[in-house]
Amino acid sequence: MIINLPKIIGHRGVKDLAPENTISSLEESVKHNLKWIEVDVKISKDSIPFLLHDDLLDRTTSGKGYPYNYLYKEILDLDAGSWFDKKFSNVYPPTLEEVLNFCSNRIGINIELKPNKGKEKENVNAISSLIKKKKLNVQYYFSSFDYYSLELMRNKMPNANLGYLVDNFDEEKILALIIQDCINLKCFSIGFSIDLINQKLIKSCKEKNLKVVVYSDSNIEYKTALKLWTIGVDSIFIDNPTSYKSVLDNFL
Ligand code: G3P
Ligand code: MG
Repeated sequence: MIINLPKIIGHRGVKDLAPENTISSLEESVKHNLKWIEVDVKISKDSIPFLLHDDLLDRTTSGKGYPYNYLYKEILDLDAGSWFDKKFSNVYPPTLEEVLNFCSNRIGINIELKPNKGKEKENVNAISSLIKKKKLNVQYYFSSFDYYSLELMRNKMPNANLGYLVDNFDEEKILALIIQDCINLKCFSIGFSIDLINQKLIKSCKEKNLKVVVYSDSNIEYKTALKLWTIGVDSIFIDNPTSYKSVLDNFL
């Protein structure tokens, strides 16, 4: 399936408006008329893919330690909302399956492969099996900072759309190697931290027909987004759509 990447993608749902990587965060994305969201996926002890950004449960849930030490039924009991706001105390870390059901016929999804170290293979196996089992009525693509995860996914799903994520590199020579990795993996996109982006970099990626996406640790406001689109960025991950409100209906 060829993807029409939108100009903006909700980051972990829309993580400034509701607890990240939860159904509440996805609901906010829909409410604000976003057409795509991104989520981070790893697996439980019983290999159920579910949403969690960090290596540990501690920051965004009431749990402690590595998620692969817990069955999903134990993870389901965790509070994944109170850290954000007490009113979200009944919110839990959802399974990827529940999230796909939510997105179906409604909103595109970027599934970031975010395995705990050593769980790359199990993570990709569980996610690819789930995707194959479901009849998805929605556009989707996989991304990862982890080359090995993308390589595994490419083998499991030869026709899947893949995006490589990059958070640092030092020299032009290394950029050339990263671009070569994308070509080897048949990626359609490459994602950079906003600190790395510049016109020359974008040009090098475009020459290889790679779509360029940009993410940040903090929200990318509409004013900044306008500059990024002008220099050739295709898509931007945002945490808060408020500053995009007046244009949201027109440009996606
Ligand atoms: O894919 C963009 C973004 O999600 C990558 O960074 O750390 O928020 O997963 P992170
Ligand atoms: Mg992510």
